[in-house]
Amino acid sequence: MSGEEISNLLGVSRTAIWKHIQSLKEDGYEIQSVTRQGHRLLAVPDRLYPKEVQEGLTTTSFGQSIVYFDRVSSTNEVAKELAAQGIPEGTVVIAEEQTGGKGRLGRQWVSPHGQGVWLTLILRPQISPMDAPKLTIMAAVAVARAIAQVSSVTPGIKWPNDILYQGRKLAGILTEMSAEMDTVNYAILGIGTNVNISEEAFPEELKNQATSLLKEGGTKVNRAKYVQSLLGNLEELYGQLLGGGFDAILAEWRRFSLTIGARVVVTGLKQTMEGLAVDIDETGALILEDTTGQKLKVVAGDVSIRGAQGQYA
Ligand code: BTN
Repeated sequence: MSGEEISNLLGVSRTAIWKHIQSLKEDGYEIQSVTRQGHRLLAVPDRLYPKEVQEGLTTTSFGQSIVYFDRVSSTNEVAKELAAQGIPEGTVVIAEEQTGGKGRLGRQWVSPHGQGVWLTLILRPQISPMDAPKLTIMAAVAVARAIAQVSSVTPGIKWPNDILYQGRKLAGILTEMSAEMDTVNYAILGIGTNVNISEEAFPEELKNQATSLLKEGGTKVNRAKYVQSLLGNLEELYGQLLGGGFDAILAEWRRFSLTIGARVVVTGLKQTMEGLAVDIDETGALILEDTTGQKLKVVAGDVSIRGAQGQYA
């Protein structure tokens, strides 16, 4: 399309069009510009620019406002600051790269540039702080669904919120909140998904523990499409949760679960417990049965699943 046509269509000057085309080129859009003929879009960059994510987004709230960074310390840290300042529910903070990505239990989360999806969703649920673990459960279901929708990989969930494929981690969730005794001020759902991370990009010590959709599925996944699917599922399941439909979410969690029915060892902050994982209750706690048939309730910890060969994953 010629500069003149675009300028007439949008009602802005040809100089403004030229400046915008230059800035799109700087952002990685491949645009062929031929004198007296016009401009042609050849390729869109592999970036999670808000416009790229929002085009094709089916939600009414989640992701309608996106705060985008090329590089940031941690999207959870930024989201916490924004939430404390009163930014509305549904706002999403996304970064191409995190230099201080955080995992559960104080761990580091490797977040290389342009190869994964590192995002945090801000929520303001009117629920009791005691029900907050339900948010993580519903987020795990949303992540598992989204992975199944956009890739050929069939993921599983390890309690409480690890998304795995064949014992290796594909995605993780870090939920943080600010609450009073009986109200939640805000909750943030930090979700990291290893989408297109190549084998070499994982640090040596993680190679046995982590994997990516690229590695397992054999092809690159469109990251913008994954974010659209993830936000769509999150919005649907969040609505269901607030509407009193948590039982159905829990049932779906159980279908994705790798933990229920397995013999597990749970390393907690104070003690280690071993037993058969028999269920997850409505508060999100894991129910173990020990050798004497006694039921134990686990609210936090790290689970190792004892595999068929007596291995731990
Ligand atoms: C875990 O499994 O340990 C949780 C990992 C959570 C990682 C995500 S990436 C986006 C958000 N920002 C962070 O610093 N952490 C979460």
